[in-house]
Amino acid sequence: MMIETFRLERFFSEHEFSVEHNLAASDCEPISQAELIAMAGDDELELWEELKLGYTETAGATFLREEIARIYQGIGTDQLLVCTPVEGIFLAMNAILEAGDHVICCYPEYQALSEVARAIGCEVERWEADEKQGWRFDPRWLERHVRPDTRLIVINSPHNPTGCQASLRDLERTVEIARKRGAYLFSDEMYMFLEQEPGARLPSACDVYERAVCLFGMSKAFGMAGARIGWLATRDAGMMERLARLKDYTTICSSAPSEVLATIALKSRGSIVAANLERIGRNLDLLDDFFERYPEYFYWNRPPAGTVAFPRLLSSKSADEFCGKMISEAGVLLLPASMFDFGESHFRVGFGREGLAGAVEALEEHLPEADL
Ligand SMILES: Cc1ncc(COP(=O)(O)O)c(C=O)c1O
Repeated sequence: MMIETFRLERFFSEHEFSVEHNLAASDCEPISQAELIAMAGDDELELWEELKLGYTETAGATFLREEIARIYQGIGTDQLLVCTPVEGIFLAMNAILEAGDHVICCYPEYQALSEVARAIGCEVERWEADEKQGWRFDPRWLERHVRPDTRLIVINSPHNPTGCQASLRDLERTVEIARKRGAYLFSDEMYMFLEQEPGARLPSACDVYERAVCLFGMSKAFGMAGARIGWLATRDAGMMERLARLKDYTTICSSAPSEVLATIALKSRGSIVAANLERIGRNLDLLDDFFERYPEYFYWNRPPAGTVAFPRLLSSKSADEFCGKMISEAGVLLLPASMFDFGESHFRVGFGREGLAGAVEALEEHLPEADL
């Protein structure tokens, strides 16, 4: 398989652990293992203490899948496959697609969402977010570009990197379009639960469409990226079978300790997510204030969901130059749009972590050096 370099992941591996302030991360503040174990009920404590480090079920431990199923309206334990989140993208693309298939994928996007399909040999068409409509993915565009041979439509809401949250009407319209063509829908829901208005949360696509394959993971809303655990959900039994057969070639089963930790976290979902949303609200207030002080340099719209936003630089300097300067001079990591192959004007900022005030202070102090 000839697959392109994953630009964002290479950029992070170069800078993430050497820079002083990470203002580009997409996860929430990592939760400590001790904090999580302190939330465990008696049954989960017993699971944790008696855990054997052997292989687990390929689909994921039953106790975990029972807990996961509660998130959805109509998904049972046999309609779930526990995996690493990015592995879920790899599995789904390989289970759904063949060389020559037509795929429509949201753009800008987490690169794996388009690149795995491209490496399989598919024709990938970009469905571009409309900045003027708050980075909306307009279903009217989809309607015009979907084809009889479109095999797959790829969506992501809340969206990385813009923080856009689709409306229920737009999701329903997208599903209608996919259904009319018999296309699969891959719905990346990694940032679910991070809607600032709880009423804005969408149903999972697998609850509204029989040919949807949905991805969620513990990395973002639960601050558990290091547990490397998530899952795919689909009501399509044949597809689930194909996904499981492919997983035999990637990880066979998931990490046994992570399965227990994810179960504990899901049972404490309310308090973990509330604390993360509270931090996000505080951080966004700080970013609002910062960007308000520099309207001549930045175009900023507070995003409604998720942990990331995609402000525009109003300068002749490129985002690569600006971000490079901020890394070297201010020790602040920002992610330029080139990592998303999305021109030179935007950059991703992340606001799910602690320490944002210090990062913004360092940024502000060194802003003159960027010579915008
Ligand atoms: C939209 C999206 N999907 C999938 C993933 C992969 O998640 P993980 O890094 O936990 O494998 C990410 C990670 O940033 C993401 O932003």
